Amino acid sequence: MNFDLSGKVALVTGGASGIGEACARGFHAAGAKVVIADLNPDAAGALADELGEGAAATKVDVADPGSCQAMVDFTIKTFGALDIAVNNAGISTELAPLPETRIEDWRKVISINLDGVFYCLKPEMAVMKAGASIVNIASVMGAIGRTGAAAYVASKHGVVGLTKVAALEGAENNIRVNAIGPGYIETPLLKQATLEALDTIAGLHPVGRLGKPDEIASAVLFLASPAASFITGAYYPVDGGYIAQ
Ligand SMILES: NC(=O)c1ccc[n+]([C@@H]2O[C@H](COP(=O)([O-])OP(=O)(O)OC[C@H]3O[C@@H](n4cnc5c(N)ncnc54)[C@H](O)[C@@H]3O)[C@@H](O)[C@H]2O)c1
Repeated sequence: MNFDLSGKVALVTGGASGIGEACARGFHAAGAKVVIADLNPDAAGALADELGEGAAATKVDVADPGSCQAMVDFTIKTFGALDIAVNNAGISTELAPLPETRIEDWRKVISINLDGVFYCLKPEMAVMKAGASIVNIASVMGAIGRTGAAAYVASKHGVVGLTKVAALEGAENNIRVNAIGPGYIETPLLKQATLEALDTIAGLHPVGRLGKPDEIASAVLFLASPAASFITGAYYPVDGGYIAQ
């Protein structure tokens, strides 16, 4: 990754682990100030401490609108602006056929993966100025379905739709909003999968392997940077060819 984002202030939700952590590290390396916002304040704080100057951590629960507002307030208070936001925090659940999907599991996934992106977009777009950029982390499941994953698939399709509306509304003020659709990426999110299952999952990608968090972060940094100044409202698969099949 080779972007110069010095002078910019970036906010990453779910920034303490996996894809979010790779984004936070990427922004910091590119010279941006970065706020690592996560439900796990210890892990977020440890990463901010490791990165040092120009990094700060705050606790957020993206399923709580007040917490999302407080996260944006913290960013402005700490670094004076919000130029880049990556709405990345998300969860998955065990696969279950739709009739057996528990209502509480449906609600939990929708409240974090979909409500959470809306609750973040609201205060972010309210304070962002011309030239700002938002990247929402969807999934290949934002473009295609998968048996047993009703809530996850619905939440990620919802994120892609929200991205389009936010892009249309932001266009007038030159605030760009895009979504990325990762294939399966080697992160703790996949920790429930057995090695055998991971092998099978890797084989679903035409390139024959899982992706790495840095391979998502480099696409996020590109979309956040001035190099992507004419790109808004887009959904970018970053998936080793998964949805091209
Ligand atoms: N790993 C994959 O294969 C994959 C594929 C496609 C999309 N994604 C998406 O990428 C995003 C990041 O996933 P990851 O694989 O890096 O996961 P991860 O589990 O490694 O990290 C997720 C982070 O989000 C935080 N988090 C969870 N709930 C939260 C909440 N309510 N509020 C704030 N933070 C919360 C966790 O504490 C954790 O630090 C998710 O939206 C996920 O759906 C992941």
